[in-house]
Amino acid sequence: MLDQLSLDINGLTVNYGAFVALRGVTLTVGRGEIVVLLGANGAGKSTLFRTISGLQKPTSGSITYGRTNLVGLSPEGIIRMGIAQCPEGRLLFPELSVEKNLVLGGYIHRRDKGGVKDGLEEVYALFPILRDKRHQAAGSMSGGQQQMLAIGRALMARPKVLLLDEPSLGLAPLVVEQVLEVVQRINAAGTSVLLAEQNAYAALSIAHRGYVLENGVLTLEGTQQALLGNDAVRSAYIGV
Ligand SMILES: Nc1ncnc2c1ncn2[C@@H]1O[C@H](COP(=O)(O)OP(=O)(O)O)[C@@H](O)[C@H]1O
Ligand SMILES: [Mg+2]
Repeated sequence: MLDQLSLDINGLTVNYGAFVALRGVTLTVGRGEIVVLLGANGAGKSTLFRTISGLQKPTSGSITYGRTNLVGLSPEGIIRMGIAQCPEGRLLFPELSVEKNLVLGGYIHRRDKGGVKDGLEEVYALFPILRDKRHQAAGSMSGGQQQMLAIGRALMARPKVLLLDEPSLGLAPLVVEQVLEVVQRINAAGTSVLLAEQNAYAALSIAHRGYVLENGVLTLEGTQQALLGNDAVRSAYIGV
């Protein structure tokens, strides 16, 4: 994990016009960590992810990966730094085959054909079901399989940091477990993960640390154990 660096967000504020979506957010994803970002609908999780990925300009604050300031880099430049996002809602091309979806992801991230081929092999090794279904339309697969495909597409970039925006959305509990188990394997293979979730119990079961985001402000941070035991987290996100 020597080539991994820490992703550091400092005092990040993001506006949509006059509306402040994130206010002074400070958060770190350390080397090799799985960090969960908990927050209800509208808290600002996707805004944070889009800002890290260069799709949204911050009003103020910094985002650094190692010594590199990511603010102002193009989305492609940020992917090339090793930070890839699997967006909320998956955003696949439903009529295209599974493999075409992966290859398209690969072309954005890997200029060379050999790289794309290696990437496919890596993704198929992680998700054998995607190899079996590689000629089927992405939209014909189950929600869980489509989520695996969306994660696979992000992995085509060989990221060092994977940003996963609500992968459990709309999936049955058993499928959520399968997806999160794969996230753990990706992490064990050396990729740091920032995971946005409303499903706190499932997410905390695999996370090392976490933060709680409410109305654009971080209100709590702690280890997996501390958050699982926190009354506010339990009542707001675990439903106890
Ligand atoms: N493009 C946009 N323009 C204006 N407001 C937005 C836009 N995207 C998100 N918002 C608002 O910003 C807030 C945070 O949204 P979002 O980051 O999507 O939260 P989450 O991902 O936690 O559900 C919400 O109030 C949402 O309505
Ligand atoms: Mg969101």
